[in-house]
Amino acid sequence: MIEIKNLEKTYDINNHSVHAVNDVSITINDGDIYGVIGYSGAGKSTLVRCINFLERPEAGTINISGFGKVIANAGRLYLERDGKPRPLLDKDLRTLRKSIGMIFQHFNLLDRSTVFDNIAYPLKYRNYTKNEIRNRVNELLKLVDLEDKRDVYPSQLSGGQKQRVAIARALADSPKVLLCDEATSALDPDATESILRLLKELNQKLGLTIVLITHEMAVIKEIANHVAVMENGRVVEDGEVYDIFASPERSITKRFVGTSNGLGKISKLIDDKAVDAVPTDRKKLIKLTFIRSSVNDALISRVSRKFDVDLSIVLANVDLVEDTPLGNIIVELSGEAERVEAALKYIEECGVRIEGVKR
Ligand SMILES: Nc1ncnc2c1ncn2[C@@H]1O[C@H](COP(=O)(O)OP(=O)(O)OP(=O)(O)O)[C@@H](O)[C@H]1O
Ligand SMILES: [Mg+2]
Repeated sequence: MIEIKNLEKTYDINNHSVHAVNDVSITINDGDIYGVIGYSGAGKSTLVRCINFLERPEAGTINISGFGKVIANAGRLYLERDGKPRPLLDKDLRTLRKSIGMIFQHFNLLDRSTVFDNIAYPLKYRNYTKNEIRNRVNELLKLVDLEDKRDVYPSQLSGGQKQRVAIARALADSPKVLLCDEATSALDPDATESILRLLKELNQKLGLTIVLITHEMAVIKEIANHVAVMENGRVVEDGEVYDIFASPERSITKRFVGTSNGLGKISKLIDDKAVDAVPTDRKKLIKLTFIRSSVNDALISRVSRKFDVDLSIVLANVDLVEDTPLGNIIVELSGEAERVEAALKYIEECGVRIEGVKR
């Protein structure tokens, strides 16, 4: 488990300070695929780089199971084990970084070294024999499905293959945690999918905890189980992925969820006056959310018959989030005012959440 409390990191540039991480408290459980999403400059990379102390936080604590609690105080770092803090030493950092691997958007491979040598690189400075290194690298090549690329150079690989090499290298020391900073942002959709599938497989097969930075909700939806949304250095919302998709609270989270399910388009349709969103007694534009159940067409026609109202579907979207269905339908509901009210009440009684789309 990685428990971060009240973490702070500020950069001072030209008498101007940027509060990159502002009072962040999050808990990453063992075996999580923990997504961190936010727009450019939100502080995602800085937060994640504090976990392996590539960035030094000024205040707050990071408690890492099996390592100890690192306390940042006025920019100095202390390591607390058994209740006794002492300054954090370089050798502590070396130990920590063996248990936390990291991959990046642009792979950071050594261009002049073969795939084999890239993966072997972190092992060279440890007490391994040549034979042990060869065996380990072969094992890693198999794990990332690149056995046939062992002796080629990075320039001879596709983006997805390069990221596989980077993943193998990051896993060379058998870390418990893998930090991924926009690991799929430079890849085409097919390569993105195959890397995400590989990460999920490693998570399940090795019990690897993964912290995944992205600005795409689709990536979160594909593999994460928990997500934290960052804005201006703060984590403004976090929770289980399904819950965040079903009930986003903050406007930034709604926007991210909207980009992944097409419902964001409805606001544009309304803004463009393609859809009349002004509610009247007789007509309402509403969003129905079917949580943990498939979208039920029968409900729509039943309501229409039972209450003698018209329900026309403007936009519908059914997603599988964490293998559980989540349906959103935007409908225009019209009819006699009393019947419209009764229909809304009935829909809610059926366990479907109702929201007005606008105004
Ligand atoms: N080394 C640095 N020196 C000065 N300012 C920095 C440094 N690193 C980050 N910042 C600033 O801190 C803020 C957060 O940056 P960070 O890189 O963590 O954002 P991000 O969410 O990862 O963005 P992106 O999606 O573009 O990668 C930004 O305003 C950035 O300009
Ligand atoms: Mg970043």
